[in-house]
Amino acid sequence: MSPASFGLLLYLIATCLADDYQWTYDEEAFGGPSFWGLLNKDWVMCKSGRLQSPIDIRPEYLLFDPNIKPVHLDRINAMAEFVNTGQMPRVRIGNNHKKPAVNMTGGPFNGYRYRLQRIDIHMGKGDVNGSEHTINGKRFPMELQLLAYNSDLYTNFSSASKSPHGIAGISILVDIGSETTEELLKLTIATSSIMYRKQRQILTEIEPWKLLPYTRDYVTYEGSMTSPGCEETVLWIIINQPIHIAKEHYFEWEKLLKSPVNQPQDETLAPNFRQTHPFHARLLRTNINHKRKQTAECKMPLPKMFYKTRGITEDGEEIRKAVNHHKRRHARHHNEELPFDVHSLDSLDSVQELSKF
Ligand SMILES: *[C@@H]1O[C@H](CO)[C@@H](O)[C@H](O)[C@H]1NC(C)=O
Ligand SMILES: *[C@@H]1O[C@H](CO)[C@@H](O)[C@H](O)[C@H]1NC(C)=O
Ligand SMILES: *[C@@H]1O[C@H](CO)[C@@H](O)[C@H](O)[C@H]1NC(C)=O
Repeated sequence: MSPASFGLLLYLIATCLADDYQWTYDEEAFGGPSFWGLLNKDWVMCKSGRLQSPIDIRPEYLLFDPNIKPVHLDRINAMAEFVNTGQMPRVRIGNNHKKPAVNMTGGPFNGYRYRLQRIDIHMGKGDVNGSEHTINGKRFPMELQLLAYNSDLYTNFSSASKSPHGIAGISILVDIGSETTEELLKLTIATSSIMYRKQRQILTEIEPWKLLPYTRDYVTYEGSMTSPGCEETVLWIIINQPIHIAKEHYFEWEKLLKSPVNQPQDETLAPNFRQTHPFHARLLRTNINHKRKQTAECKMPLPKMFYKTRGITEDGEEIRKAVNHHKRRHARHHNEELPFDVHSLDSLDSVQELSKF
């Protein structure tokens, strides 16, 4: 490369960065996931972070924690706008005097209240599935991520995303089915209005809670934003059951484009997922309790279990100690150091009711 063209390249990089350089999910491109950490000094976690998301949810790492509550999402109609960011379709949630903020409470939130800010949508294309979180290696066709910030501690999403206990993310996996979940169908229809980058569409009738499947079961872990700057401030909640989309509706999402309307090109947003990251020694807690589900007192027809808890020790007290230990953030290598042996028990009878201890 000649000095002149090298100078030009530097100039281009500098101007691109100054002009909010368009990062992308395309691994082949400058601006792709392996470069995110180099594109901006505030994005260093994308490269160096140890608690990154998404992850592969491995059933054998799940620990039953009876202290975590069901997640509550306000059952209201949200003020919302649908936008094509050039990287993904996103629903931005607002609030005004007529429509209050949508809050998330309960869950593993330790009593904090989180305000829903946006729903990020990740989807695949053709044979490539597009969910970010995978379950035991399986990638789902789509994932909806409801991202909320801690409004007890912070005044806005961007400052919360850089601060402790700042963000909560609910992940809803989407599988192909014969029908499309109603709220997802509304969004699917609206995709035709945001075909190009920066196009927006006001959504008048969106009720985010209706995207949740019929289950209170989830898995939770501490991770990061899955787009730049990959801040490690996100408490993730992966709902234990997918919702559905019909194949013909799934194809609508594949049509969305990266380019602005005045420079149409055929590059699609899909597939737009980040690869999974190492789990290291994080804790993967769940409220899925097989024993409860087996007892006769449970007469409600329960939805099919989507994945199963296995790694439960026989000594509940040890789990409780371990959970508390981890909460204090010292359990960096709990697999090696802590006294309990996480058996891979296939027998459901050995799941402990920790609330007894
Ligand atoms: C959500 O919380 C805010 C306070 O942070 C409150 O003003 C608002 O009314 C709440 N929303 C609902 C639906 O209760
Ligand atoms: C993609 O999702 C479909 C529908 O759930 C599934 O049948 C297929 O096995 C998935 N593909 C991969 C590679 O995980
Ligand atoms: C977010 O809050 C911080 C701290 O209160 C403030 O400095 C910043 O300007 C706010 N950002 C936006 C976009 O409102």
